[in-house]
Amino acid sequence: MENLQTIREQALAALNAVQDEAALEQWKVAQLGRNAALTQAMKNLGQLSAEERPLAGKQANEVKLALEAAFDEKRSALEGARLRESLSSEKLDVTLPGHSIALGRLHPITQTLRRVNAIFAQMGFQVYRSRDVETDEYNFLLLNFPPNHPAREMQDSFYVEGGAPDNPTLLRTHTSAGQIHAMREYAAKDPGNPPPIRIVLPGMCYRFEQVSSRSEVQFTQVEGLAVGENITFGDLKGTLTDFAQRFFNANVRTRFRASHFPFTEPSAEMDVECFVCGGSGCSVCKHSGWLEILGSGMVHPNVLRNGGYDPEKYSGFAFGMGPERLTMLRYRIEDIRYFWRNDMRFLEQF
Ligand code: PHE
Repeated sequence: MENLQTIREQALAALNAVQDEAALEQWKVAQLGRNAALTQAMKNLGQLSAEERPLAGKQANEVKLALEAAFDEKRSALEGARLRESLSSEKLDVTLPGHSIALGRLHPITQTLRRVNAIFAQMGFQVYRSRDVETDEYNFLLLNFPPNHPAREMQDSFYVEGGAPDNPTLLRTHTSAGQIHAMREYAAKDPGNPPPIRIVLPGMCYRFEQVSSRSEVQFTQVEGLAVGENITFGDLKGTLTDFAQRFFNANVRTRFRASHFPFTEPSAEMDVECFVCGGSGCSVCKHSGWLEILGSGMVHPNVLRNGGYDPEKYSGFAFGMGPERLTMLRYRIEDIRYFWRNDMRFLEQF
């Protein structure tokens, strides 16, 4: 009995000294395991006399239960301490602002293209998609380019493999090539009485040019084409002036200057008043007070005929503008090369 009492006191004293869970496990093996003093004492109970045995057995059981209870208590105390410790060391401030999700965005040229398309959609123009890879015939011949026009030179256009010797394949140098595709497609619907056309043709164009702050080898254009009966130069001016006011601002002034394109006659370029200096002259407008934004003109009779429209009965106007240039003017970007450089510091500003 005394031995049991000693075992109990020594075990509890040892438990008191336990500081962590590893030590607690060791204590359990030492005090309650197979080789523990208590386990040995319980094995020895059989050697006692029949009178002594029940009392000693009861006492031994009590010691065992007491040690197990003390073990459980110590274990939950250690677990509680560990939890408190991790809660305070990994403290979470739920009032801190979170990380915002980085959203993607549309390329500035895509934004401009969509804006231009939307403005013309409001005026009843539909988007017509035309191909990037063209033939000499569609890019030049049917647009009334004379056979030896300088734009057909290898130095100006990207020719690709394929095509006939007299009709080589090239990357379109302007979206005007789509004019013929569109007119022929519309005219095929009713060759005797072809329907009116009001379309814009957006897309990438390619020119074999020296890259500089003002020109790239690839760039976008938005072509416009309206064909029908009684379409006049007044319609051209009205449509494009309205476009400039919707794109830039309602008060922007515009002017038309005579120009030349093989596929339009007469031809004109449209300028908008320089919004940097308001027309008084600055470095952006090269001291002219005006900024050129597009080429345009009445569709040449030969082009109408090539598209399947009788120039005696039908007339039309066409225009072509560069979204890079529009975007540069609108945001005062000084170098066209920023657009295709994929520098996030530039692109993220739009
Ligand atoms: N295709 C011409 C260019 O690339 C622009 C243009 C289009 C001019 C339609 C007149 C009519 O410069």
